Amino acid sequence: MEVLGIDVGGTGIKSNIINVETGESVGEKLKIKTPTPATPEAIIECLRETVENYQWQGKKIGIGFPSVIKNGVSLTASNIDQQFINYNIDSEFSKALGCDVRVVNDADAAGIAEMTYGKGKNVKGLVIFITLGTGIGSALFYNGQLLANTELGHLKYKKSVFEKYASNSAREFHHLSWKRWAKDLDVYLNHLDLLLSPDLILIGGGVSKNFDLYKQYLNVKVKVDMAALQNDAGIIGAAMAAV
Ligand code: BGC
Repeated sequence: MEVLGIDVGGTGIKSNIINVETGESVGEKLKIKTPTPATPEAIIECLRETVENYQWQGKKIGIGFPSVIKNGVSLTASNIDQQFINYNIDSEFSKALGCDVRVVNDADAAGIAEMTYGKGKNVKGLVIFITLGTGIGSALFYNGQLLANTELGHLKYKKSVFEKYASNSAREFHHLSWKRWAKDLDVYLNHLDLLLSPDLILIGGGVSKNFDLYKQYLNVKVKVDMAALQNDAGIIGAAMAAV
């Protein structure tokens, strides 16, 4: 079965048609810049453009969204417009796009793909999957079972929360070297290890592909690895979660 998978991020809206049985991308990936402000109306406009680009006639669209999601409703808005607090994405987007839209948290979506087709496949025990992008997203899996909406990027750190120091946007915004940035990332990973005693930590998101540039600065007891699906995981997992 094919599903249109869309990964709505703080910086870009990425999409592709996904074969949900194999996890393979069927079409050509599309990336649109996330509008500012990222209001529901502006996001819907980008989604219309996406649907048109693929001339999508299929029944389902799966969306990964950077918020806590309960029953299709977004409850938080850290890197997206505040109008998304208590916004029923499933019903509003389904109406606007004339298609059955299912939304899940973006990190949960990417984690689902990585646990099925990537380095989390068949891993028992506790896997913490984190995405380092505009924010920090997290997805927890125990024996492959997802514990949704964990929001571990929002653990308190220094004057704020970890995502303000160890996300990729923090690295870019403050023009940090890999070494300097990895210092905070190392504190973060050790903190997760102390709190949760995972068996594996997987790093996804924009900087997963640069893992070789900073892994030498990480000093964590538990195994830390980069995600195999890298930045496409969010699109694939969003499609998978919709069915
Ligand atoms: C949001 C999470 C999201 C993460 C990655 C955080 O700011 O609170 O829900 O998963 O960013 O986009």
